[in-house]
Formats: sequence, C-alpha cells, structure tokens
Amino acid sequence: MSQVRVTMCVCRRIPFEELLPRARAADWTLADVMRETGCGAGCGLCRPYLRRMLATGETAFSELLWEDPG
Ligand code: FES
Repeated sequence: MSQVRVTMCVCRRIPFEELLPRARAADWTLADVMRETGCGAGCGLCRPYLRRMLATGETAFSELLWEDPG
C-alpha cells in the first residue's frame, strides 16, 4: 500500500501550508511562487503540487502528481 504524503517543497524546505497564505495574500501565480520563494524552481518536482495548491487550496497530497509535459 502506498503511503505518499507530499507537504512541502523539499529543495527549499518550505511547507505548502506556509506558502498558501502568502500566495493567496499576494495573488501569486505559479511563476510568482517560483520567483518569490524559489519553490518549484529547483528540481521542479513540487511544481504540479504547487499548481494544485493554488487551484484548490490543498496543502497536503497523498497522491503522486507529475508535471504535464505539454
Ligand atoms: S521540491 Fe520544490 S523545487 Fe524541488
């Protein structure tokens, strides 16, 4: 049974829970998050999670998300 739990940008060590209020307050897009915090600008693996966080307000994910290559 898989026990995936993604809750932060591992490269920057910043939890999504901390990013979400900042993103909401400043109305950040994913590009803004990357520029302002560096999250998503390292390995990039958190990018689809950041995108989902901005869209839905979720800060913890129990599924694997992959960047849409398109
Ligand atoms: S985990 Fe966020 S850039 Fe690597």
